[in-house]
Amino acid sequence: MPWVALLLAAGGVAVLSALLMVLYMGSLVTSPKPMSLSGAHVVVTGGSSGIGKSIAVECFKQGAFITLLARNESRLVEAKKEIEKYAVNDKQVVQCISVDVSKDCASVERVIKQAQDKLGPVDMLVNCAGTSVTGKFEELGISNFEELMSVNYLGSVYPARAVITTMKERRMGRIVFVSSQAGQVGLFGFTAYSATKFALRGLAEALQMEVKPYNVYITVAYPPDTDTPGFAEENKTKLLETRLISESSPVCKPEHVAKIIIKDSIQGKFSSSVGTDGHMLNVLTSGMSPMSSLAEALETVLCMGVFRIIGQYYIASFDSIVRRCMIQKEKSEKTD
Ligand SMILES: NC(=O)c1ccc[n+]([C@@H]2O[C@H](COP(=O)([O-])OP(=O)(O)OC[C@H]3O[C@@H](n4cnc5c(N)ncnc54)[C@H](OP(=O)(O)O)[C@@H]3O)[C@@H](O)[C@H]2O)c1
Repeated sequence: MPWVALLLAAGGVAVLSALLMVLYMGSLVTSPKPMSLSGAHVVVTGGSSGIGKSIAVECFKQGAFITLLARNESRLVEAKKEIEKYAVNDKQVVQCISVDVSKDCASVERVIKQAQDKLGPVDMLVNCAGTSVTGKFEELGISNFEELMSVNYLGSVYPARAVITTMKERRMGRIVFVSSQAGQVGLFGFTAYSATKFALRGLAEALQMEVKPYNVYITVAYPPDTDTPGFAEENKTKLLETRLISESSPVCKPEHVAKIIIKDSIQGKFSSSVGTDGHMLNVLTSGMSPMSSLAEALETVLCMGVFRIIGQYYIASFDSIVRRCMIQKEKSEKTD
């Protein structure tokens, strides 16, 4: 029957087009050679606490030499002692240098030069120094917006500037920017914080295009809520709405988050996520970001629509939390 033949032909064309699309995408995706951390020099900003300290431990366990950068000297010394317990050979060194990564580019360049003079050129830079403030947009101080942009954004630009030329000359290197899930979706109370974490993504995408021909790979990590001193501090002043929204996903251990970030950076993956929610957010926000494998490229093409529907369900439930809190507050104000 002619319509059966027509259907078969249409099916054949669809299968052929899908195959061609897969072949075309495969030709576009370039996966870098994984990097070995044995003997490598890894600089971790914010390496004296939380996720940064766990990242330093993870790299040290893989045989790296570590430079920790943060402000508080006694916390740096404590972290150094803790990390040294995980040595895998007797040549490994952990050095720490006190610096405020947000203040001026020249002093950050100076300490990174100092670090390189002792441990050689930087093979991997992990920008983990960061801080957060939550609050309603109109109730946060303008200084909060300025400080967060200085620490979370400029505090990642300066160290990256200090290592990039040598990485390009050596035609090797990895840079990690630690963003946040709040750098993929804007949530109640995070107007100051989210903007700084979204900014890292723009920086990373543009920089990746510049340095890819030099075999330098950038990773943007999007950790979920993680049990760290910084997270405990943030919780002290978290608004009810923000807390209720955050409670919809579990809190992770910093060691687990660190393992994933380092594994993804070693493999040269552009986006690094943790858990099922994180994975879904990665697919949803992949946009024009570089793809690190054919499997990743195909997954984004095939799953984007379904994940968009699931994502809208989450947004609707967060909106409903915000509305309920507002009604409750108005009721209690009337009765007062
Ligand atoms: N914990 C979470 O739930 C979570 C979730 C998503 C993303 N993140 C991100 O992950 C990163 C680490 O967070 P965390 O929770 O592990 O934080 P944390 O426990 O508070 O540690 C922050 C580290 O950054 C350093 N630091 C802060 N400001 C600095 C500055 N101006 N100059 C140099 N060092 C500075 C701190 O040392 P000093 O104070 O001594 O300088 C400390 O070593 C941050 O970028 C954060 O935004 C965290």
